[in-house]
Amino acid sequence: MGKLWVGGIFLFFIFATTNLCSGCLEHDRRALLQFKSSLASSDSTARRLPSWTGNKCCRWKGVSCNDATGYVTRIDLGSDLLGSLEGNELNSSLAELTRLTYLDLSGLYFRSSPIPKFVGSMTQLRFLNLCSAGVSGAIPHEIGNLSSLCVLDLSDMDLVVDDVTWLSSLLALEHLDLSGLSVGEVGNFDKVLLYMIPSLRSLRLSGCDLSNSHFNRTHLDSNITVSTIQTLDLSRNSFQGNFPLFLQGKMT
Ligand SMILES: *[C@@H]1O[C@H](CO)[C@@H](O)[C@H](O)[C@H]1NC(C)=O
Ligand SMILES: *[C@@H]1O[C@H](CO)[C@@H](O)[C@H](O)[C@H]1NC(C)=O
Ligand SMILES: *[C@@H]1O[C@H](CO)[C@@H](O)[C@H](O)[C@H]1NC(C)=O
Ligand SMILES: *[C@@H]1O[C@H](CO)[C@@H](O)[C@H](O)[C@H]1NC(C)=O
Repeated sequence: MGKLWVGGIFLFFIFATTNLCSGCLEHDRRALLQFKSSLASSDSTARRLPSWTGNKCCRWKGVSCNDATGYVTRIDLGSDLLGSLEGNELNSSLAELTRLTYLDLSGLYFRSSPIPKFVGSMTQLRFLNLCSAGVSGAIPHEIGNLSSLCVLDLSDMDLVVDDVTWLSSLLALEHLDLSGLSVGEVGNFDKVLLYMIPSLRSLRLSGCDLSNSHFNRTHLDSNITVSTIQTLDLSRNSFQGNFPLFLQGKMT
């Protein structure tokens, strides 16, 4: 009897805090609406995220929830939006979505604003895609906090990589795309990317102005295990003469 009573309270709690039929938690719904209001439509005749209205937030376009808990788990605003939505910067309301595991904002445009440091608090993230989203500046090292991250795509933006040691904290990372970024003089580039991220399977560094000196492994005391890498894209760089030896045979 006692168990039934506790179960009843629990069920009541679930029904009271989520809306029946595809509603998310009210807290998450508010965070989504705040994020929406931080965006503007680049075309004055188009409406901003027209489905993002009402209570059924788990059915809003690009939003997915955990049906059992009502927490928002995915935001997928990918390339089908093609820059039709703009924002001055990534709004910190996103950090309120504490169960978000998947964030794809590659269809949005953030007017050359930096990637905010709060991204480092979104530690549940497994997938982060900001490809072509118009952010710029230095990549905040706080991204190194995202220890569950499996996919990180920061390609085709005006970003600068000044140091990559933070990448070595991303121990679950399998797919990294930094294509088109400015890598500068990063001394331990190969060591971090290929040696300290044991899970890495796909690495795309096309058009990063890389040269042989970025892949100088003389400072390494043991052989790099690059065996997990299945895809390596180093096209459109400035390598001269022989390709770094340990990478030969890894070309795809
Ligand atoms: C987030 O968006 C809301 C709604 O537009 C705005 O009031 C707030 O200032 C924004 N916060 C940041 C940090 O940009
Ligand atoms: C990163 O993680 C550390 C400890 O794990 C924490 O103190 C720090 O606030 C986090 N940074 C951000 C930006 O959330
Ligand atoms: C590789 O690094 C070592 C030590 O830093 C340096 O002496 C050497 O000139 C570098 N080689 C190339 C090809 O950059
Ligand atoms: C590195 O690999 C080469 C070629 O496979 C091998 O001859 C050498 O002994 C290895 N060095 C170390 C430190 O494992």
